[in-house]
Amino acid sequence: MMMKFAIALASSLFAGAVTAFAPAVFSRHRVTKTTQLYGRKPFISGNWKLNPQTKDEALTLAKEISASITEGSPDADIALFVPYVFIESAMGAVDGKLSVGAEGVCPEIKGAYTGAISTSMLKSIGVQWALAGHSERREIFAETDDYINAQCLRIIQEGMGVMLCIGEKLEEFEQDLAGSVCAVQLKKGLKGIAKDDLDKVVIAYEPVWAIGTGKVATPEIAQAVHSKCRKILAEMYDKEAANGVRILYGGSVTPDSVDDLMSQPDIDGALVGGASLDSQKFGRIINFKSAVPV
Ligand code: 13P
Repeated sequence: MMMKFAIALASSLFAGAVTAFAPAVFSRHRVTKTTQLYGRKPFISGNWKLNPQTKDEALTLAKEISASITEGSPDADIALFVPYVFIESAMGAVDGKLSVGAEGVCPEIKGAYTGAISTSMLKSIGVQWALAGHSERREIFAETDDYINAQCLRIIQEGMGVMLCIGEKLEEFEQDLAGSVCAVQLKKGLKGIAKDDLDKVVIAYEPVWAIGTGKVATPEIAQAVHSKCRKILAEMYDKEAANGVRILYGGSVTPDSVDDLMSQPDIDGALVGGASLDSQKFGRIINFKSAVPV
């Protein structure tokens, strides 16, 4: 019985994950219909994590990625979240064609916090975006919802944008708890953040079982959770506010899966790990082709 469930789950998870996309010619000013309906500009982002290993490699990668953004690319926000030491050189390499953000911040502003990086330090070198709540920070670095909330509040207080990552583990997914886990992480992560500040918030739904596993969620599964997240945001704020918040999908996104994901009404972009370290792959993701042209 369990085995049958596991097989059914696996096929529902991965069926359609790698499907052909409907070719569509995109001008730089076209966006997916549903996204445009609510004025949500697509947002494609990469998270380099603990990569690459040298400044030279980081420079080459950043240059190649920025070269993939052309006049014909979709009109989307593009960002790379990179290790602190590479931020300034990556900024120089991309020449303003995309944002270079931080993979995290310390919620404290100054003082005896060895190894920490503050929002003021980041702002002083021109950083506008930072990640918070990534599952690797939650798991490996034991960052709690309270700590993540403090990071979000600090980032917003400094006038920067925060990309809050949320998502359930495999056993939670199997128990149909994805929506509940996301509700808790959204409510705790965004506690105290005013509706007027939601323009500085992007949500990244990253199911933990999909991160670095090659097991991308099907567009249908991702869409269902994104829609649920938007309903939760509507309960927390209101429908109009919820319709304005961009919700990105992350977890094994590749050139093969991005178009179908981006064709979903509530998927407004992607947060890409492994494929953002390959300029060809990430370039293709930046140049996604939604099956729902304007
Ligand atoms: P992968 O794309 O390697 O699965 O990583 C996703 C991720 O964790 C982005 O933050």
